[in-house]
Amino acid sequence: MGQKPFNDTFLKACRREEVPYTPVWYMRQAGRYQPEYREIRKQYSFFEINDNPEVCAKVTRLPVEQLGVDAAILFADIMTPLKPIGVDVDIVPGKGPMIGNPIRTVADVNRLRAIAPQRDLPFIGDTIQLLREQLSVPLIGFAGAPFTLSSYLIEGGPSKDYHKTKGFMYAYPEEWQALMDKLADVTIDYLTYQIASGAQAVQVFDSWIGSVGADDYEAYIAPTMEKIFTALKATGVPTIYFGSGAAHLLPIWNHLPVDVLSIDWRIDIQAARALGIEKALQGNLDPSTLLAPWEFLEKKAKAILDQGMAQPGYIFNLGHGVFPEANVSQLQRLTKFIHDYTKK
Ligand code: CP3
Repeated sequence: MGQKPFNDTFLKACRREEVPYTPVWYMRQAGRYQPEYREIRKQYSFFEINDNPEVCAKVTRLPVEQLGVDAAILFADIMTPLKPIGVDVDIVPGKGPMIGNPIRTVADVNRLRAIAPQRDLPFIGDTIQLLREQLSVPLIGFAGAPFTLSSYLIEGGPSKDYHKTKGFMYAYPEEWQALMDKLADVTIDYLTYQIASGAQAVQVFDSWIGSVGADDYEAYIAPTMEKIFTALKATGVPTIYFGSGAAHLLPIWNHLPVDVLSIDWRIDIQAARALGIEKALQGNLDPSTLLAPWEFLEKKAKAILDQGMAQPGYIFNLGHGVFPEANVSQLQRLTKFIHDYTKK
């Protein structure tokens, strides 16, 4: 621990510098597909792990040690900063985040408080500091984006179509903007705190933004994302923006002050570059392929790498998170393959 020379391949790729091989990490790389995680979960609830720096650091390190990935991502959830702003949130196994007091009116929006991360979430800073002593790869901090957070806040839990969320956005544009402004401040304050504590890059998860059309994104979402990434730029650490099913938004994202765009399998890396994207790209293997025979997975990975490696500024990842049915040995083999295949 800590004795290995520091591996900065991931940070170099974020900055579009030359790298000795393609760096790789996996969204949701810590979680239930790991027997060791399931064992720890028998003892602690999700938030008990999150709130306990020793255990949280251990869970964060698990995939780095087990898979050999080039970055760690802080173990937490996009819901973590919502508790202190007054949201009654629980993570229900098999269901996902459930909100006891969903947002229905402008009074509900006004009720949300600002966060003071040092006071409200001291365990996050403590975990990050601990990890920086232990890790020999960069530590990624993260937060949810305002649209994706508001989808849980308004729907009350997971959704397939986001009718209530978008209905609120269309029906109450001023209240929607007030909600976006509040959540943007939470995201900025929370990520700035993570960076001050030692996070070396940050990813903003906008998992459900693909449900919004391009014109509506411009009108209702883009100013908020512009504000967030402008504020984060001042910290100097690389920033990553992830959305799923969001290929139609790439031309807009290209103008945001963010360093890396994380894309899914619905658009090829070379097709994204052909749109004129100059930023670094991250992605985009369909996580379902983890269940396919190795030969199939290898072929898919090769095709992605051939496109990704064609120019500097590429990080291998999945197009969405690892899921509980994935298996460790397949991810180990994939990680090794990515390194071996791309070594110069
Ligand atoms: O990547 C990592 O290893 C860091 C940990 C991480 C978690 N959630 C841990 C977690 C990260 C980066 C997240 C982000 C997150 N959480 C997102 C954005 C990424 C994505 O997948 O779109 C979203 C939408 C959430 C909301 C959320 N929290 C979901 C959909 C779930 C899964 C629900 C389920 O039961 O399948 C959670 C719970 C959660 N977050 C778990 C983990 C490991 C499972 C909790 C458990 O142990 O039961």
